[in-house]
Amino acid sequence: MSSEDIGKWRKAGKLARDALNYGKTLIQKNSSMLDVTNKIEKFVIDNNGELAFPTNLAVNNVGAHWTPSSKSKDVFENGDLVKLDVGVHIDGYIGDNALTVEIGSSKYSKMIEASREALNAAIEVAAPGVNAGMIGYAVQDVIEGYGYRPIANLTGHGIKRYNLHSGVSIPSIRERGGAVLKSGDVIAIEPFATDGAGRVGGKRNSNIYHLRQVRKIRDEKATELMTEIQNRYHGLPFAERWLHSIQDDVTKNLQKLLRSGVVSYYPILDELGKGMVTQAEHTVMINKDGVEVLTA
Ligand code: CO
Repeated sequence: MSSEDIGKWRKAGKLARDALNYGKTLIQKNSSMLDVTNKIEKFVIDNNGELAFPTNLAVNNVGAHWTPSSKSKDVFENGDLVKLDVGVHIDGYIGDNALTVEIGSSKYSKMIEASREALNAAIEVAAPGVNAGMIGYAVQDVIEGYGYRPIANLTGHGIKRYNLHSGVSIPSIRERGGAVLKSGDVIAIEPFATDGAGRVGGKRNSNIYHLRQVRKIRDEKATELMTEIQNRYHGLPFAERWLHSIQDDVTKNLQKLLRSGVVSYYPILDELGKGMVTQAEHTVMINKDGVEVLTA
């Protein structure tokens, strides 16, 4: 990787961090979830970044994958346990980070600490020559030490330019083997802790979409929408609420793209034991000594 590319990656990491910290201050009782995501995303754009994915808000038993729709009336309530996950890119170089906030109470402080300390332990372990599986050992040990479960099927991921999930998986539970980390690799490490079953699943629409395939469709307006999605988001995830600047009748055309298999939505990932969930995440670059935390 050239030093120019590394510079872009560092910039994306710092802006993702700043946007996350700004977002944290907005998450308060009675504040609108749509307003919070809009403000965070405006902050990114105003600071010359682009969004690597829609700002995710996962509340209470939701583990991951939800963003407000353009019509959302949802507000935060006292006691909500909110995972905020923000992704920024600069010329395709992505910084992805997350934190957890509990509104107006401290019932889940230890669970918040568990995922954060698991992340710190994982960062200690990560280095060139280390198996990704070793990170899972560190994460599970720490989270179980707090008396919680790691979520087994929410894993960290390798990141490449314009590619949020490059194929390398960073486990959150003890696993043998896995990809061998090498200098120059960029990975997002994201442990989740829960008092539930330790698995997530579900089918409900998260309002987050991605382009699956570009193909010929008969409808002119739907084709125009497909082309705009391709040009604007480069295969990265996008939000329904982002599309309204493209077309007035976008809802209808988005439905057409869904039905024709051009676009699909990500499902909301609920904790399967109805447990509460916390998350912490950093994007790190492996270097010859260990790691550089890009989102620190
Ligand atoms: Co993330």
